[in-house]
Amino acid sequence: MEKIIIEGGIPLRGEVSISGSKNAALPIIASSIMFDDSNNELYNVPNLQDIVTIKKLLISLNAEVKDSDDGKLFINTSTINNFDAPYDLVKTMRASVLVLGPLLAKYKRARVSLPGGCAIGARPIDFHLQALRALGASITMEHGYVEATAGKLKGAEIIFPIPSVTGTENIIMAATLAEGTTIIKNAAREPEIDDLILALCNGGANIKRVMPSVIVIKGVKKLNKLSHYIVSDRIEAGTYMVASAITQGDIIVKNVDLNHISSITDKLTEAGVKINVISPSSIRVKGPKIIKSVDISTAPFPYFPTDMQAQMMALMSIANGLCVITENIFENRFMHVAELRRLGADIKVCGNFAIVKGTGALLGTDVMATDLRASASLVLAGLASSKDYTSISRIYHLDRGYEAMEKKLSGLGAIISRVDDSNKTDYNDNEDYLTSQSMQSIASGIK
Ligand code: EPU
Repeated sequence: MEKIIIEGGIPLRGEVSISGSKNAALPIIASSIMFDDSNNELYNVPNLQDIVTIKKLLISLNAEVKDSDDGKLFINTSTINNFDAPYDLVKTMRASVLVLGPLLAKYKRARVSLPGGCAIGARPIDFHLQALRALGASITMEHGYVEATAGKLKGAEIIFPIPSVTGTENIIMAATLAEGTTIIKNAAREPEIDDLILALCNGGANIKRVMPSVIVIKGVKKLNKLSHYIVSDRIEAGTYMVASAITQGDIIVKNVDLNHISSITDKLTEAGVKINVISPSSIRVKGPKIIKSVDISTAPFPYFPTDMQAQMMALMSIANGLCVITENIFENRFMHVAELRRLGADIKVCGNFAIVKGTGALLGTDVMATDLRASASLVLAGLASSKDYTSISRIYHLDRGYEAMEKKLSGLGAIISRVDDSNKTDYNDNEDYLTSQSMQSIASGIK
């Protein structure tokens, strides 16, 4: 089991370059299913575990996928002759459900494992399924799988009860090759959706965001070639901005889209962090001696992203004062609280509120990552733990969404390394062991 060890208390200095966005790359890779060309090309694809998973998924459908080290990905989906997204891949990454819309659009059939619960919330896909039904798909549930077929998909008006990012993406993709016009109301406004729209339109789709929350898709007969450069990752950018803030650092964050990070920039500025735009795609971020506590409330784009909540909580843990962090998107996205407390943070949780009393400093110890953004918050807290070592286990969560994080942080002067202590038996790290123990207890009637 790999761990990350950090010696904290070092102010970060230097430049860091932001990678392509995970949450833009995933739907765009899935959309390749709909393109006729046998040589679809993507650029600036981040090297992440979630990208490995979606590539595996395409290969399992019998698509041909080739990648090179420099973020280029070539995909030929004309060879697809299997329409099943198996449980093994969907359980590893919920975004696998993004193949449902494209498979239905192109092949009129898909069988996709229903994602189970997730560490951060129940995360159902009912909006996706209701909207696909409205487009004419016939959907049943069999043995934990969504079985979807469609004689023909036809444009319809879809109104999402609340904006859903992957829901909006799945319906945009399904509607792209449908007959007639689809109008999505209360569509999600996240920039990753607009990156998908751009990639599809460059290949021949007719899609417009006519109002911030309204997207109109006029169905086309076919898509030609997918050739697209993935937008930069606003959450990775925000995470490095907090890394500078939390270490009293002074860094330049390059390859950012400034329009995508304004809610993060605004909050950090309110907390006393100095942020200067130094070019159309780079900013200088300087952490103050004392961080001011600021209240944070997560909401869909353009408001403060839930994917930055855990990282900001790490920052607020060392701030001067008291603040309330409200999580409005996912019902269980406070898993990092218990681990931050182990590092000395003073946080009380009450429903979807966390009351954070800044302690000025944190003290390094052993902690465990529970999900992707929780792991990032622990890395940040570790960087802030003055002259102490923090050891973070279960960092496979981090590898799902941050490209070369230790390398990028080392480049900024952090003392951080990855160690493999798989020789040690740590039963807490072994979920299979725990499962089999629980199963035995249940079977023997103890529980
Ligand atoms: N929801 C439903 N039913 C649905 C769909 C969503 O009730 O059919 C609810 C969810 O449970 C949640 C809310 O609607 O309470 C919004 O969820 P959304 O569908 O927007 O989330 P998602 O599409 O599953 C994407 C990102 C997440 C990010 C959220 C919110 C991808 C691949 N994932 O998830 O990213 O947190 O939007 O912005 O784009 C991450 O990168 O760490 C991550 C979790």
